[in-house]
Amino acid sequence: MVTIEVVLGDITTENVDAVVTAANESLLGGGGVDGAIHRAAGSRLAEAGAAVGPCSPGQAVATPAFDLDPPVRYVIHTVGPVWEGGDAGEADVLASCYRRSLRVADELGVRSIAFPAIATGVYGFPSEQAAKIAVATLRSTPTAVERIRLVAFDEATRDHLRAALR
Ligand code: APR
Repeated sequence: MVTIEVVLGDITTENVDAVVTAANESLLGGGGVDGAIHRAAGSRLAEAGAAVGPCSPGQAVATPAFDLDPPVRYVIHTVGPVWEGGDAGEADVLASCYRRSLRVADELGVRSIAFPAIATGVYGFPSEQAAKIAVATLRSTPTAVERIRLVAFDEATRDHLRAALR
């Protein structure tokens, strides 16, 4: 039975088997949470990303986590939708990010995983709606993952995720 927790903090400090990053299609790293994870994991993460990229929106692919400490085993790179007003299928792409990240986690035997609030930063996806999609998708996707941590970087996101869990 999977447990889902909401925490406020920096995802690079999470002690889990896999950390999900909100990447861009190149998987070469960028700003936001992707930048933080790439800085913490070291330059080998971008090299590994280049070898498995590009990654389409809604897809997910894993690489080792290299220098992340605590010693996370994998980084799962997923590409969220750029918000275009809500009528361009953004919700389905975001749901796919969470679903396919769990599928990749299952392929790797991951038992604990941390997600950021995918697409709610640079990509502009409204945080409250994104939180509802994240929780609904994670709850409805069969998985062997036992522990899911939703890591908010700000209190508003945390509150949206908590509300979505209730
Ligand atoms: N830990 C957890 N969450 C974080 C961290 C961190 N260290 N840093 C930022 N965040 C949060 C942001 O506050 C936001 O809520 O991650 C969420 C996602 O925001 P972005 O990182 O901007 O990701 P996204 O909106 O999906 O845009 C992806 O931005 O960084 C580039 O390369 C990335 O082009 C891609 C785009």
